[in-house]
Amino acid sequence: MNLNTLINNNKTQFDKKFKELLKHNLDRSILSKAMFYGCNNGGKRIRPFLVNQASKITNVNKNDSFIIGASIESIHSYSLIHDDLPSMDNDDYRRGKLSTHKKFNEATAILAGDALHDLAFALISGNLKNNNYKSKLELINYLSLCIGHKGLALGQSLDLEFENKKINKNKILNMYLNKTGKLFEFSFSAPFILANAKKSDISFAREFGELFGLIFQVIDDLIDEIGSFKKIGKTPGKDVKQGKSTLLGLIGEKKVIDMCKNKINFFTKKHEFMMRKNPVLINLLEFGMKRIY
Ligand code: IPE
Ligand code: IPE
Ligand code: MG
Ligand code: MG
Ligand code: MG
Repeated sequence: MNLNTLINNNKTQFDKKFKELLKHNLDRSILSKAMFYGCNNGGKRIRPFLVNQASKITNVNKNDSFIIGASIESIHSYSLIHDDLPSMDNDDYRRGKLSTHKKFNEATAILAGDALHDLAFALISGNLKNNNYKSKLELINYLSLCIGHKGLALGQSLDLEFENKKINKNKILNMYLNKTGKLFEFSFSAPFILANAKKSDISFAREFGELFGLIFQVIDDLIDEIGSFKKIGKTPGKDVKQGKSTLLGLIGEKKVIDMCKNKINFFTKKHEFMMRKNPVLINLLEFGMKRIY
């Protein structure tokens, strides 16, 4: 089966279970409705796919794999709801529909983001079947580190700070690593941590997720420039309009693609054994690049 089919099948299964989980946890309040709207409106569910693949490698059971994926999508959706707010990227559309603050209102969107963030921790701390409490605690600690002031939130802050400034390549890479890379790093390595894998395998998994995240953000920037609303479901051309500091803007399309290819080659050579043992990972990196190529 090709990778696109695998990703789509996983998305279909994930969406069904995620909807049930949300319905079970949420109620009829406006806040709950905004939360449901913000995380149940057509995301690609790439992060849960990474969790799914890592779970296969590490023999993590289906329930726990789903719960990790659901926590990550809650966090990811919170970050998108906030990312679209007028005080951040000010985008009226997300996943082909009105963004949450447009559908509801700004205050509700802020609170829905906050509450999705909290729901993620409720799920990952309360719904895993694995009874290795040490691994579970490590996982929760690691998630909090990946998304906070040394992770996603830092990256988002740098992204805004860097608007309309001349920023060098390493600083932009560091911003990408935080705003996008860390949650991908968590997505792929979480099953390794829960399964109590050996240290070298955990660090391989972290590095893989981080690299995938970097490629993902680079391609997201390209898609922003060349995509249509119909295809990407969000307003195209915003990065240039808002003076975002992107690698694409700094070094251009050819160099940025070459950089990704070099990083993939370097990584694949460095981790030859793991990559050969799990060829789907090579396909995944290629998929990351091929989202448009
Ligand atoms: C968008 O993420 C934000 C970035 C980190 C680039 P996705 O492209 O995964 O968004 P959805 O979940 O599929 O809408
Ligand atoms: C968002 O990056 C990264 C997040 C952590 C939310 P972007 O601002 O480029 O994401 P889009 O293009 O709005 O989806
Ligand atoms: Mg942004
Ligand atoms: Mg944005
Ligand atoms: Mg973008």
